Amino acid sequence: MSNENLNKTKKICKRLNPSLLSADFWNIKDALETLSELGVKSLHIDIMDGHFVPNISFGPGVIKTIRKGSDLFFDTHLMIDDPLEFIPKFIDAGSDSISVHVETKDNVNECFDLMDDAGIQKGLVISPKTSVVELEPYLDRINRITVMSVEPGFGGQSYIPSSSQKIRDIKELVGDRDIEIQVDGGVNKDTIEEINEAGADKFVAGSAVFEGDIKKNIEELVDELK
Ligand code: DX5
Ligand code: ZN
Repeated sequence: MSNENLNKTKKICKRLNPSLLSADFWNIKDALETLSELGVKSLHIDIMDGHFVPNISFGPGVIKTIRKGSDLFFDTHLMIDDPLEFIPKFIDAGSDSISVHVETKDNVNECFDLMDDAGIQKGLVISPKTSVVELEPYLDRINRITVMSVEPGFGGQSYIPSSSQKIRDIKELVGDRDIEIQVDGGVNKDTIEEINEAGADKFVAGSAVFEGDIKKNIEELVDELK
């Protein structure tokens, strides 16, 4: 690979946010090292409680364990009924950013207060059926918005096509604020270009990164954006 090509690849890898949900936990150490070698800087961590979404993933103990061996930016996505109760545990486990759903029943500003006290980044996640205006009250407080482009709960679902317009609408709403827009769900080599054109800054990708050969998968995703 030429130097120019390598630089381009690294630049795009910085915009990938692989989702741990699809990782092979038997080989997690190698997988995370491979990501870092390729120039990936962050890891998306899906927390599901079987109530907010009909699936269970992992808790703070798992994050604490992988924190010991990885210096990736840990982007924790809470899909749980009681974020206020659990945020301190996910901060303690080593999250660099925590995102709560705008649909949560808990008080979003109180969730953010806990993150501010700990000095970590704050994010909001918006589900497919929720209107973008729900984000408005929090825009001056957040570092990132995660646009769900599938119904939250499972990896490996297909990208909902109307998400592209939603990304554009959110980009307009955000204006010149320093807020990262990332897209979560159904990101793969067939959809990443469209998502990029809609204005996403980052791409959360689970199955498209971890299923099969990670290096080959990432090269294929990156090629779409070159
Ligand atoms: C779904 C999760 C996603 C999931 C994406 O609720 O929020 O982060 O891991 O998986 P893929 O990339 O396979 O659609
Ligand atoms: Zn997620």
